[in-house]
Amino acid sequence: MKINQQFKRHRRLRSSASMRSLVRENHLRTEDFIYPIFIVEGENKKNQVPSMPGVHQISLDLLKEELKEIYSLGIRAMMIFGVPDEKDEHGTGAFIDSGIVQEATRVIKETYPDILVVADTCLCEYTSHGHCGVIHNQDVDNDESLKLLAQTAVSQAKAGADIIAPSNMMDGFVAVIRAALDEEGFHNIPIMSYAVKYASAFYGPFRDAADSTPQFGDRKTYQMDPANRLEALREAESDVEEGADFLIVKPALSYLDIVRDVRDRFNLPVVAYNVSGEYSMIKAAAQNGWVNEKELVLEKLTAMKRAGADLIITYFAKDAAQWLKEEE
Ligand code: PBG
Ligand code: ZN
Repeated sequence: MKINQQFKRHRRLRSSASMRSLVRENHLRTEDFIYPIFIVEGENKKNQVPSMPGVHQISLDLLKEELKEIYSLGIRAMMIFGVPDEKDEHGTGAFIDSGIVQEATRVIKETYPDILVVADTCLCEYTSHGHCGVIHNQDVDNDESLKLLAQTAVSQAKAGADIIAPSNMMDGFVAVIRAALDEEGFHNIPIMSYAVKYASAFYGPFRDAADSTPQFGDRKTYQMDPANRLEALREAESDVEEGADFLIVKPALSYLDIVRDVRDRFNLPVVAYNVSGEYSMIKAAAQNGWVNEKELVLEKLTAMKRAGADLIITYFAKDAAQWLKEEE
């Protein structure tokens, strides 16, 4: 049989590793990663999070050791979550100067001034009810919560945070935080808004790690319905108007279509949040020997870049940085 010679030979550009490198369209860089950490009160604590193998809640005294490793891998951005001993109705621990995130920020900036501290600005780790704001009539009160959120952002900036990342999904949070930061003279502190944040079951392991499971109800009156796409664009649009400097889409893997939409429509850096459940699924499968962890992680992170993410918040940052180094 004679083969018709009219077809395209796509395999020409896949013929060797060098050829594939030459035509590769998207690349992972360690500089693109933001590594989230959990800081717990007390001393000499390094509590393994059961649902997130390889992730720990660490106390401040052990932070420096951890920072050394992070720095040597080339990671230059971290996101900090606090796990306080005491919680109350208003989440006071989030906005006091002696708060756990504020303390951790000071330690990081003193030790490695060129590591960027991204402060997650929310109340849920600090409220006794576990919701992301103040409760009135069994629901989170938008405008009352905004006041405390703005106070939290300012106290984080005062402690030295380089970027403020509000995540509680109240309407107007970017506008109110921008105004509060400006009023205190923090004109140069950017806002990385959790612009598009879905009410997702993928957050389960994080709530173990941060001890932030809502004590009643769920977060569906403020986080988005996973079925919606246009709503994501409305959320992103209003944050852009209010002065956001970065737009986060969260979670990442089941929402890569939204990452692409946001990348195409807005001209701000887009950040994909590769969330806890996405991490734990891969870890569990890898621990069973069912998948090749390194290949799977690098493939998924690359897929986020291909979808249009400029930056990636990921618990895999240290592993991925190490693997990228080995491939150099
Ligand atoms: C809440 C918050 C969440 C995460 C970070 N901050 C979600 C939630 O509990 O509703 C999730 C992060 C993850 O799953 O990795 N402000
Ligand atoms: Zn929250």
